[in-house]
Amino acid sequence: TVPVITIDGPTASGKGTVAHRVAKHLGFHYLDSGALYRLTALSAAQQGISLEDEAALADLARVLPCQFVKGHVLLDGEDVTDAVRAEEIGVAASKLAVLPKVRQALFDLQVAFRFAPGLVADGRDMGTVIFPDALQKVYLTASVEARAGRRYKQLKEKGISATMEDLVKDLAERDARDIARTAAPLKPAPGAVILDTSELTVDESVHAVLALYAD
Ligand code: CDP
Repeated sequence: TVPVITIDGPTASGKGTVAHRVAKHLGFHYLDSGALYRLTALSAAQQGISLEDEAALADLARVLPCQFVKGHVLLDGEDVTDAVRAEEIGVAASKLAVLPKVRQALFDLQVAFRFAPGLVADGRDMGTVIFPDALQKVYLTASVEARAGRRYKQLKEKGISATMEDLVKDLAERDARDIARTAAPLKPAPGAVILDTSELTVDESVHAVLALYAD
């Protein structure tokens, strides 16, 4: 079977960057599952579908016309790489991610990313629901302060101003929603190695994951 490394964890834990670099190092494919929830949220916003309409959102997710090309995200052929990363799309994604029918609708799409030579999958439920038989499961986390600090830096680089206070509040709300939901709540998968990156650089985190996989 095709090897899978799952990297789950809370928002702004650095999963995306670490997972992407680990995949590159190993020559594996990379699944950014959060992007699928974000694409569903963006598509819903464009089509005027309410975040309460579970059936319509699931229909949308089931046939999501998305493509991932060289680090770019396309929706219906249009480059939406920046649009899906917008803060309000992240919030909308985390709201529709509580809906079981939406999660079910995205299941097949995610499993399809598993092909030779291997896959690194980043998200909230990669190790618990989507790839429970993964070869290596990692739960990447960091303190709320460290995560807010990273997001602050990211936003500043994009010229967006934010206060640490607001960021901490936003992260805490997002964590609460991801952990408290009944459909695939955020938690370390059975057998996952917990890696706290509060005091680690990106390089150190990447090496730590690669070292686990090599063992
Ligand atoms: O960048 P950030 O970590 O905040 O978000 P993301 O990984 O792009 O995911 C966006 C939202 O989708 C998260 O807030 C989660 O609620 C949801 N999500 C999920 O429920 N399951 C996944 N496998 C991935 C993301």
